[in-house]
Amino acid sequence: MTKRAVEGFSKLSKNQKIDWLAQTYFAQPDKAVALFKKYWNDDKKLQQLHDEFIENTITNYYLPLGIAPNFLINDRLYTIPMAIEESSVVAAAGKAAKFWAGRGGFRASVTGTEKVGQVHFIYEGNPENLRTYFDAVKPQLYKDAEGITANMSRRGGGISHIELRDMTARLPGYYQLHCTFETLDAMGANFINSCLEQFATTFEEGAREYPAFTETEKHIRIVMSILSNYVPDCRVKASVSCEVAALNEDGMPAEEFAEKFVRAIDIARVEPYRAVTHNKGIMNGIDAVVLATGNDFRAVEAGIHAYAAKDGRYTSLTKASVADGIFTFEIEIPLALGTVGGLTNLHPLVKLSLEMLGHPSAEELMQITAVAGLAQNFAAIRSLVTTGIQQGHMKMHLLNILNQLHATEAEKAYFVNYFKDKTVTHRSVTEAFQQLREKA
Ligand code: MEV
Repeated sequence: MTKRAVEGFSKLSKNQKIDWLAQTYFAQPDKAVALFKKYWNDDKKLQQLHDEFIENTITNYYLPLGIAPNFLINDRLYTIPMAIEESSVVAAAGKAAKFWAGRGGFRASVTGTEKVGQVHFIYEGNPENLRTYFDAVKPQLYKDAEGITANMSRRGGGISHIELRDMTARLPGYYQLHCTFETLDAMGANFINSCLEQFATTFEEGAREYPAFTETEKHIRIVMSILSNYVPDCRVKASVSCEVAALNEDGMPAEEFAEKFVRAIDIARVEPYRAVTHNKGIMNGIDAVVLATGNDFRAVEAGIHAYAAKDGRYTSLTKASVADGIFTFEIEIPLALGTVGGLTNLHPLVKLSLEMLGHPSAEELMQITAVAGLAQNFAAIRSLVTTGIQQGHMKMHLLNILNQLHATEAEKAYFVNYFKDKTVTHRSVTEAFQQLREKA
C-alpha cells in the first residue's frame, strides 16, 4: 500500500484515477477496474450527469428503488418511492399501508414551514451600542439582499425575520444574527446561505462606518454564515386512529395488542437506548423517501435527532394512546424538504419519483414522508410485540443469504417455498442449501 500522498489527483481523467486506485490498492487490479466499469451506464450523457454530481467519481453505487403502494393519506392514494438497501423495509411499509387503508388511512398536516440560518460573529463592546447599530442597519440587510430574494419574494417567500441574539452567556463575545426564511417548495439551502453571506458583508462593513461605535466596536468579526439544519418550526404531523376492536391481529386479541403496542411506545419515550432503535426504524421509512425524492438525508437525520432530544433526554418521535376505545398513533417531526431545485431537477429517477407522487409541493412531500416514518414504526412495533422482528426480517433476508451462496434462480424459488413454514437463520439456509447441492 502506498505511503506517498498522490499529487494532482483531481486533474487526472476518470480512467487514470481508476488505474491509480487499482494499482495502488487491489491485489487483482484488472478485476477491480472491470468491476468499477461494469457499473458505468452505457448512456454516456446519463453517466456524465452522475459523474458531475461529485468530485473524483469512479463509478455508480446502486441502491434499490422500491415502491410501497396503497398509502391512503388525507383521502388520497399514493404509491411511495423508497430508496433503501435494508431487506424488509419496503415490504413492511406496504403491509402497514394496506392495514391502515382499510381503517381510514393516514391524516397528515404541516404545522410550520420556517427555515433557519445564522450569522455567527464576535463583538467586544457595549451590548447596547450593538443593539442600536443592529436596529439602524436592519433595513439595509434586507435591501442589500434584494438581488438574491427578488424571485423568491415574487412567489411569496423570502426573509421572514432577522434577530440579533446575545450569546455571550454561553461564549464570551459571541453574538448572532438569527434569521428565518420561507423557501416555499425549495429546501432553500443555497438561497439561505447566499442571503446570510450578504447579511454578513453588509453587517461587517456597516459597522466600520457606524459613527456611534468606538474603534474596537467597529471591528465586528464574522466567524461564519450558514443555515441551520435544526428546523423545529418547519414541522409536520401524521397520525392514524381506529377503534381498538379493529386492531385484529392473528393470534392476539385486539385489546392485548393495543395495550402492548402503547407500552412499547411508552418504553421508547422514557428509555433512550430503546428510543434510538425505535427512531432508527422510523428513519428507515423517512430516509428512504428523502433519498428517492433527491433530498438531503443527512440534514433530515441531524434535525430530527436534535428534535428528539430537545427536552434534554432523547425520546421517541412517536406517541400512542388508547382513549374511549380508540387507538391513536402519531408522529411529529421537523422536516425541511424541497420538490424543486437541487437534485430534484437533475436526477432522472428523482424526477420519476416526484411524478409518481403527483408532483407534490414541499408541504405535501413533508406529509408523505412523515407518514412513511409512522408506517414503518407501526410495522416494526407490530412485529416486535407479536411475532418478534426476526421472522419477517429473516424471510426477506433469505434472498441475500441465497445470493451469497450463489444459488441459481431455480434454487432460490425452491428455498423461498421451503422456508415458508421454517425459521430462517444463516445456518439453517446454508445447511439446507448444502444438502440440496449434495443431492443434485
Ligand atoms: C431495524 O432496521 C429497525 C427496528 O430495529 C426498529 C425497532 O426496533 O423499532 C426493527
